[in-house]
Amino acid sequence: MAKITVVGAGNVGATCANVLAHKDIVNEVVLLDIKGDLAKGKALDSWQQAPIDYYSTRLKGTGDYADTANSDIVVITAGIPRKPGMSRDDLISTNAKIVNMVTSSILEHSPNPIIIVVSNPLDVMTYAAFKGSGLDSSRVFGMAGILDTARYRAFLATELNVSPKDIQAVLMGGHGDTMVPLPRYTTVAGIPVTELIDSAKLDAIVQRTKKGGGELVGLMGTSAWYAPGAAAAQMVESIVKNENRIFPCCAYLTGEYGLDDIYLGVPVQLGENGITRIIELDLNADEQALLKNSAGHVREVIGTYQAMTA
Ligand code: NAI
Ligand code: 2OP
Repeated sequence: MAKITVVGAGNVGATCANVLAHKDIVNEVVLLDIKGDLAKGKALDSWQQAPIDYYSTRLKGTGDYADTANSDIVVITAGIPRKPGMSRDDLISTNAKIVNMVTSSILEHSPNPIIIVVSNPLDVMTYAAFKGSGLDSSRVFGMAGILDTARYRAFLATELNVSPKDIQAVLMGGHGDTMVPLPRYTTVAGIPVTELIDSAKLDAIVQRTKKGGGELVGLMGTSAWYAPGAAAAQMVESIVKNENRIFPCCAYLTGEYGLDDIYLGVPVQLGENGITRIIELDLNADEQALLKNSAGHVREVIGTYQAMTA
């Protein structure tokens, strides 16, 4: 039974820890934050939910990395979220320092963890954690694609008046407005979505998905947490149970899709050793162009990060 650390006990981190506890699949979830006793309070509150919702997962809140020792998986949610008018990329200077500091502190106590990055700008923060950690790239990856695909699937479920359970979809690219939902790889109970919805409505849903994070920032004044926290917990579950599930995740590419030395959303399998396989889809010319455009944008932000740290 595994030990999981979630760094950042804010909206996303606390939700991830709470969802993980409900899954009852790990021994212990450690929640760490630099803000006073916030992590202690949220962990205690979650533990007091256990007798009501029937789970045994122990939750420990802390500000001390010694408590994270020998973690199997670390989820990094530390950092600032965006406010209305900000893009994810505007967070880079603050969050890069935080993610680098968190990564090195974790490695002092857990020599070979699997790291799942959530902090934004996601693709670049995952790149930073990978370069700073010296871990194999199969053990460092980011959460975004499950969330973005979930938004796309939820919008489709509303439009088609079907259960979200029946919608399967693939979405690729960076976690930003250039992301690439793929209608050609979207099905409803095995039926191609294009047979159930006209192209104008489908295109409107694709466009809404790309701006899905911003829509929530506009509504709440900060970014989302229920679906993001649950998405990170789903990744942990596939690893802990060695399920080898296929999810879109932010993975390090070394030639796949003609791209090299970049973190980008692609379909992968997640098992006990992290990413066990990167799946290369046979994209058509339009899809390839959209992916290339998204990769170009992520490369620009990686360039900003590299200039900052040079
Ligand atoms: P939040 O502000 O609610 O929580 C962030 C927490 O990080 C705070 O409690 C803060 O004290 C803590 N923190 C800051 N520096 C720290 C450090 N050095 N060590 C430990 N903890 C530290 O923010 P929220 O909403 O939880 O978002 C967290 C991050 O996740 C943001 O960067 C946000 O943009 C990103 N995000 C990414 C998503 C994705 O799909 N990849 C989805 C949603 C949010
Ligand atoms: C989201 O997509 C802000 O990345 C965060 O909700």
